[in-house]
Amino acid sequence: PTAKVIKIKDSTEHRERRVKIQGWVHHLRREGKKLLFIQLRDGTGYLQCVLTNLLSSTYEAITLTTESSVTLFGKVMELPPGSHHKAPGDHELIVDYWELICGAPSGGTYYILDKKSNVDFQLDNRHIVIRGTNTSKNLKAASLVTQLIREHHLDRGYMEVHPPCIVQTKTESSLFDSNKIGSSLFELQYYGKKAYLTQSSQLYLESVIAALGDVFCIQKSFRAGKFRTSYHLSEFTHIEAEFPFITFKNLLEKIEDLVVSVCDRITNPNNPLGQLVFEINPDFRTPRRPFKRMSYTEVIQYLKDNNIKKINGTFYTLEDDIPESAERTMINKINEPILVCRFPKGVKPFYTKKCSDDPQLTESVDLLMPGVGEILGASMRIDNYDELIKAFIEKEIEPSTYYWYSDQRKFGSCAHGGYGLGLERFLMWILNLDQICDACLYPRILDRYKP
Ligand code: 4AD
Ligand code: MG
Repeated sequence: PTAKVIKIKDSTEHRERRVKIQGWVHHLRREGKKLLFIQLRDGTGYLQCVLTNLLSSTYEAITLTTESSVTLFGKVMELPPGSHHKAPGDHELIVDYWELICGAPSGGTYYILDKKSNVDFQLDNRHIVIRGTNTSKNLKAASLVTQLIREHHLDRGYMEVHPPCIVQTKTESSLFDSNKIGSSLFELQYYGKKAYLTQSSQLYLESVIAALGDVFCIQKSFRAGKFRTSYHLSEFTHIEAEFPFITFKNLLEKIEDLVVSVCDRITNPNNPLGQLVFEINPDFRTPRRPFKRMSYTEVIQYLKDNNIKKINGTFYTLEDDIPESAERTMINKINEPILVCRFPKGVKPFYTKKCSDDPQLTESVDLLMPGVGEILGASMRIDNYDELIKAFIEKEIEPSTYYWYSDQRKFGSCAHGGYGLGLERFLMWILNLDQICDACLYPRILDRYKP
């Protein structure tokens, strides 16, 4: 009989019908000489497949290895109740004919997955490692979360745009790098001229609000900071949004809305993919609104009260840029999301708007999450032309290359602000991951750009 080509996720819909499924041998178990159980993987799921009559292709069946690609034909059958072999979905494929597409060295991914201790070896072989159950789960969750983030922004009526990655504006190292560790720009040749990989699409988004209103982008950002931590990538996925005619208070609400709405979409029982998040992190739940708010001044006080000091043994002051490690100690102790507000102007980039009640402080905010630290940075932007030019000069930046950015303040300026969320850091929090590399397909970290 003819067989319909199906994907594993749809197999239960084809109960008692003959189907054709193609995929990779995830696990293999032989029982005696005539019975072979294949756990087949096709990216959409796993299906137990039983090969009973192996006589027609005995040799291939004996030499079949995990990670081989195969075509299987057979009937989808419900497992009898109380069946002794467990199969996910309680269905299995009773194979009546099969073909090997391409074999694999014996041992499959396991010869790599076993060597858990050697991180570099694992990363060198990430193209194999990603086939493993845990890593592919993380990648699927990343896909799901990205989709929900996009859905959230579109549902709110924000327009998606695609700003450039190759940019001309050279900035001083601390422009988007409040930690001031080394130069944070990757330089490249652009038809014989110097260009850079973007650190943030914010400035472009600001220029678009007068055309499209509320806007967002999901775009790679690049940071050349020489970090070797569990939290830093040289290339990360940046979700940024920019909103005209808002106040700082509105901005804080939009940040809470983003986090809570994406979490609610994950936990929504109508979203079957949300199950996956619970499989990876059973403790996942939506945080409650409003999030705890702390001013930078209160953070300094908290660090003092809790005896968290600088390496030189003294306490942090308002002049200091609090390092991420101290921030992380605090957030892990408090153990709930915190919006840290009103950073001193010295630790924030040139474009950050000053507080009207204290020009030494800015209308800026970082969102800290337990276990991860900062996952989002946001601020209101200077919207007055003269004030912006003054800010360029204060930070020793040549304003002329930013003509297109400053022009915005000449042609109908308005109060505006926005945020940037690091997707991989957000995933670390959602999935409770220790390493940012686990939230990333092919991580770019210090010195690594393979595979
Ligand atoms: O705090 P950052 O540098 O803020 C900006 O770039 C603003 N221009 C955003 C905006 O207002 N549109 O970066 C925002 C977020 C951080 O909170 C962090 O989650 C992530 O981007 N991020 C990184 N993630 C991984 N590795 C790195 N090296 C990162 N640097 C920033
Ligand atoms: Mg930041």
